[in-house]
Amino acid sequence: MNYNASTLPVNESKVDCVCLPFFDSQSLCKTGELIDTNFNQVISKSIKTLGIESEAGKSFILPLTDTNFSRILLLGFGNQKEISNDTLRKNAKALASQIKDTNIKHLSIALDKASLSKEQQILFTKSCINEIENTQYSFDQFKSKKSPESALTHVDFHCENEAQEDLQATCSLAEALSKGVNTAKDLGNLPGNICTPSYLADQAEALAKSSKNFKVSILEESDLEELNMGAFLSVSKGSSEPGKLIVLEYQGGTKNEAPHMLVGKGITFDSGGISLKPGAQMDEMKYDMCGAASVMGTMTAIAQLQPKLNIVSIIASAENMPAGNASKPGDIVTSASGQTIEILNTDAEGRLVLCDALTYAEKYKPASVVDIATLTGACIVALGHSTSAVMGNNDQVINELLEAGKETDDKAWQLPIWDDYQELIDSPFADMQNIGGKGAGSITAACFLSRFAKEFPWAHLDIAGTAWVSGGKNKGATGRPVPMLLQYLLNKAS
Ligand code: BES
Ligand code: MN
Ligand code: ZN
Repeated sequence: MNYNASTLPVNESKVDCVCLPFFDSQSLCKTGELIDTNFNQVISKSIKTLGIESEAGKSFILPLTDTNFSRILLLGFGNQKEISNDTLRKNAKALASQIKDTNIKHLSIALDKASLSKEQQILFTKSCINEIENTQYSFDQFKSKKSPESALTHVDFHCENEAQEDLQATCSLAEALSKGVNTAKDLGNLPGNICTPSYLADQAEALAKSSKNFKVSILEESDLEELNMGAFLSVSKGSSEPGKLIVLEYQGGTKNEAPHMLVGKGITFDSGGISLKPGAQMDEMKYDMCGAASVMGTMTAIAQLQPKLNIVSIIASAENMPAGNASKPGDIVTSASGQTIEILNTDAEGRLVLCDALTYAEKYKPASVVDIATLTGACIVALGHSTSAVMGNNDQVINELLEAGKETDDKAWQLPIWDDYQELIDSPFADMQNIGGKGAGSITAACFLSRFAKEFPWAHLDIAGTAWVSGGKNKGATGRPVPMLLQYLLNKAS
């Protein structure tokens, strides 16, 4: 898709569809008025006779034959003095669904400062691109009959000179973000027999090879043994798919600048291990690598945008399977940090692979570390499917993530990891156990990780409820929290 900010007058360009904002008391945007005058009041007459409403989120396609364009898409914004960010997002969604499955090839969207402020134009442009990409996404590589290719190839945002540069930058940013989100969705949706730890390693290698300022290294199980990663290996050893620690380094800043780090949980299938999960919906545990997928997605966007900062990403990838040589409840292992762990439940495997990855992160002396994981079912109980949980040892990192989430509508909410909770994972036989009690499951999981994140500012995102849509016809990866992570990193570069 081609997204562009253009200063050409809309009424002079030949396109299939022009989108015009329109407001209460039937007032049209500037371009709308111009077209209306040029074509014999066709718009205002139609609004009256058809009773088209200007309520926010309402949209209407007007067929026109005697103009440069074959249709006009009227988009209601309600009261012009009270346009909220939610309205802008809602309208972007309405626009995307209106043009889906039409034969529109070239869409022009009319923007002017009398109708929308520059900030509103930026958010609207960003949202339109996100929503269009979202509605056009399909995962049909395993279907014999592919979904039909969309007709749309060009979307132009027509604006005034003073907004052109900003809106063009917004287009580039939103395009890179969409590419990252789609990467995360694809990786998430791939089945476990294809998307294995080795597959993720190959994808990371391919990304590094095709991108400027990237380096990759893949640590094999033998390397992890040398690093004494007993916690990670206790998970990977039960599977015939070898576990991998995948490290992607991006250097956009100066050589000695401390990197910001992302650490993703990459369990390519979580059967639970010997603490086997129930069968219903177990297939969805192919999504247990969505933390890793969000890291790959974010790095894909970073590769395109080339911001001025250093980023190191680690993906801790393994398959969690039951086997004769799998870990058993009661086993005690030694992590790379030297701390010992009693494995009371082999289904609490995410924290076991992540803790060694966090210890490995220490060697980079990072400025910050964010781990991303589909870590606990308890997170869904606490926050449902619209909000990720964030916890950590550093208020600044936490607040920056919360802020980035608000900016991108990829929201998170903080849960406490006060010391009160730490004793819930004390073990009678080892330094800690890998599960807490019945309550506060997301918090005790984060408490566990916090014991391996003492050397740097750290936050943990639990995306168990937000990474994919479970069951039903909309089942599929969401690409979250790529928008939040990318925004978080870009805010640091600016
Ligand atoms: N990957 C799961 C968490 C999960 C479950 C995410 C359902 C999304 C939907 C994780 O590895 C897990 O199994 N966690 C256990 C922890 C428990 C054993 C303390 C859980 O949540 O039940
Ligand atoms: Mn599990
Ligand atoms: Zn898991």
